[in-house]
Amino acid sequence: MERGAIDWEDMWSPYDDETYRFALEAALPDDVVVDIGAGDLRLALRMAARVRRVYAVERNPVLVERLMGSFDNLVVVCADALTWTLPPGVTLAVLLMRHCTRDHFAAYVRRLKDAGCRRLVTNARWKMGVEVVDLQCRQPYDPHRIGWYACHCGMVGFNAPDMDRITPDTLDGCIDVVGCPHCTV
Ligand SMILES: C[S@@+](CC[C@H](N)C(=O)[O-])C[C@H]1O[C@@H](n2cnc3c(N)ncnc32)[C@H](O)[C@@H]1O
Repeated sequence: MERGAIDWEDMWSPYDDETYRFALEAALPDDVVVDIGAGDLRLALRMAARVRRVYAVERNPVLVERLMGSFDNLVVVCADALTWTLPPGVTLAVLLMRHCTRDHFAAYVRRLKDAGCRRLVTNARWKMGVEVVDLQCRQPYDPHRIGWYACHCGMVGFNAPDMDRITPDTLDGCIDVVGCPHCTV
């Protein structure tokens, strides 16, 4: 990988400890976790102490070459996560990649759903916020509902078909949807 690309990725990590704590607290002891773009494994190592198994996938060999292979319940893979075949049984995915494009986010979601994964911890949609995405959600986008939405294609937005009906309550919360107007999936 060319040096510039590595420097560019480095600019975005590490994230704040609150983000990592959120991801760790979203994990259950029985989870099989895939950490997509695992970087220097700072989260994967902590995650492995809490869950059944962690697959850490990182495409930059410089970051993972020392730790390639399997130890106890941590499997370190140097690969492109957009094409790497997900192992069976993954229950939770982590995508801490604020600069992830919407197309790539949608591709990760599609692949994770196809593999049967149920939850995704990510900062890729809201950028400055981290969330748990329900990958099993099938709630269709409702053009008449006022409020925030976040779609499996990566789009987020506030829908206000009728400005007069906006109240403080409609500003709270956000629902996960599929099939938003900007949908690419
Ligand atoms: C901003 S860093 C975050 C690293 C780590 N998730 C963390 O929170 O510390 C993004 C990482 O994702 C890796 N990455 C980006 N695209 C990738 C892909 N398609 N497959 C595997 N790794 C990827 C980069 O090499 C980089 O190490």
